[in-house]
Amino acid sequence: MNAPHSETVHPLWLRCCHWVNAIALAGMLFSGWRIYNASPLFDFSFPASLTLGGWLGGALQWHFAMMWVWGINGAVYLLLGVVSGRFRYKFLPLSLRALFNDVVQALRGRLTHNNLSQYNMVQKIAYLGVILLGVGQLLSGLVLWKSVQFPLLRTLLGGYEAARYIHFFCMSAIVLFIVVHLVMVLLVPRTLLAMFRGR
Ligand code: HEM
Repeated sequence: MNAPHSETVHPLWLRCCHWVNAIALAGMLFSGWRIYNASPLFDFSFPASLTLGGWLGGALQWHFAMMWVWGINGAVYLLLGVVSGRFRYKFLPLSLRALFNDVVQALRGRLTHNNLSQYNMVQKIAYLGVILLGVGQLLSGLVLWKSVQFPLLRTLLGGYEAARYIHFFCMSAIVLFIVVHLVMVLLVPRTLLAMFRGR
């Protein structure tokens, strides 16, 4: 099914949410990497040049400030997406067979994106997947931020230490999504224009 106004690929609210998300997420990632460096989970640290905040305290301030922008913006995006019906006509129905076909076409370099108002199955799964990763990032972040205030959530996630790993792996998967997403945008630059102009 097509969007109600077929000439508008992305409504204004969607474009605002998308770009606010991109900026807020950049702030969260770069400050998050500085926070990680203060107590690494693994045998590596992020290069200081890729981090924000200068030191642990500064990075935490950036992270907590951006957290509100990112969280409220994400809630607005989800609410308007559901209420406007956009999620339904953009992301549904899902089909494993169509996903398989699209992956095969993509591997052959033949996956087209001529109609910008419709997402192919790879895009649908990727976008829904990154939204779910965002939810995972938020829930594990709540446990790390206010561990005492969210005891049930902490238990459900397997404890404070487990929440740290969940937060790290959701972040890694989001970064992987962003890299692939940006490569795709470079391959089909028209989509970038539509994400600015709406048409
Ligand atoms: C500078 C960075 C970014 C650029 C240039 C960019 C560009 C784009 C473009 C051009 C589209 C439309 C794709 C199409 O019509 O086929 C899009 C959609 C989307 N992008 Fe990004 N993006 C960026 C960052 C991000 C980030 C950080 C996320 C989340 C982690 C994200 C998540 C999404 C989602 C979920 C959609 C689908 C939105 C919807 O239709 O509801 N993007 N992006």
